[in-house]
Amino acid sequence: MDTHIKHKVYVTRKIPEPGPSILKNRFQLKMNPRADVLRRENLIQNVRGAYAVMCMLGDKIDSSVMDSAGPNLKVISCYSVGYDHVDICEAIKRKIIVTNTPNVLANTTADLTFSLILTAARNLVNADRHVRGGNWKFGWTPDLFLGYDVHGSTLGIIGLGEIGTLVAKRARGFDMKVIYHSKTRKRDLESELDITYVSLEELLQRSDFVSIHVSLNKDSFHMIDKSKINLMKKTAFIINTSRGKVINERDLIRALKNNIIAGAGLDVYENEPISRSNRLTQLPQTVLLPHIGSATFMTRSKMAEVAANNIVNFFYQRGVVYKIN
Ligand code: GLV
Ligand code: GLV
Repeated sequence: MDTHIKHKVYVTRKIPEPGPSILKNRFQLKMNPRADVLRRENLIQNVRGAYAVMCMLGDKIDSSVMDSAGPNLKVISCYSVGYDHVDICEAIKRKIIVTNTPNVLANTTADLTFSLILTAARNLVNADRHVRGGNWKFGWTPDLFLGYDVHGSTLGIIGLGEIGTLVAKRARGFDMKVIYHSKTRKRDLESELDITYVSLEELLQRSDFVSIHVSLNKDSFHMIDKSKINLMKKTAFIINTSRGKVINERDLIRALKNNIIAGAGLDVYENEPISRSNRLTQLPQTVLLPHIGSATFMTRSKMAEVAANNIVNFFYQRGVVYKIN
């Protein structure tokens, strides 16, 4: 029996199928028809009376939003794997469960991480611009867009969760030496993936590519700052597909400007979207993406399915609910 059919579920932005169909059949679904972020006052107003809210990155779900939803609110379903946009302490106080979409986006994000490694190392964005800009005058040229080898290099993975592990797997295909640093050492994966645990300092000193795969929390905030970047090789790249606030962006910009490291491939920033005047955009040795780690048709659709099923399975007490609290 669809006992919750009259219960309001609010989805903060348009998500792909099968998300809406899964919810429509079981709840009173209200969904923002647009994919861009709601104004704060509209978010607060639209969640009123909801039993569940599906939110995404950029929606700040704090005590005001939970107050506005009121005592019916039981589930906050994140259409993402990260949940730093939700005030978890407030949710716990109110006995609201918070869910996310693990598993389904890890391979897609690991693919993007590798895209950034290859693109940054081989100057692909600048080379593409060169061709489109009509600047390619001399055919094959001995010194045109020289970059760095990815194969045979050392990859340092910070954070060996789902995504970090899948990045390590890909690195084997490129004959990379993989070292990692993680809060907890994962000995079983060390032999399986032929990777070595090192301290953060050693990782920074030895890596040609440093790739970040931690979640954002108070321990990881600005984990990579000036003192850490200074340990890196002059020829090394930093790759970030996790959360921008893990890196002190001002320190990174300064290091890139002063050629302390060779470059950076970034999908995430301290504040998103970055402004046109952000100095990262003025540096030729950066590759800058607009937070698209999980952005494939297939994965976004799977995320919609998992995020919707987290709500259905909670209320109808069946199947898996990916709770984070
Ligand atoms: C994307 O950054 C996510 O957390 O899903
Ligand atoms: C490049 O195209 C080469 O033949 O070396």
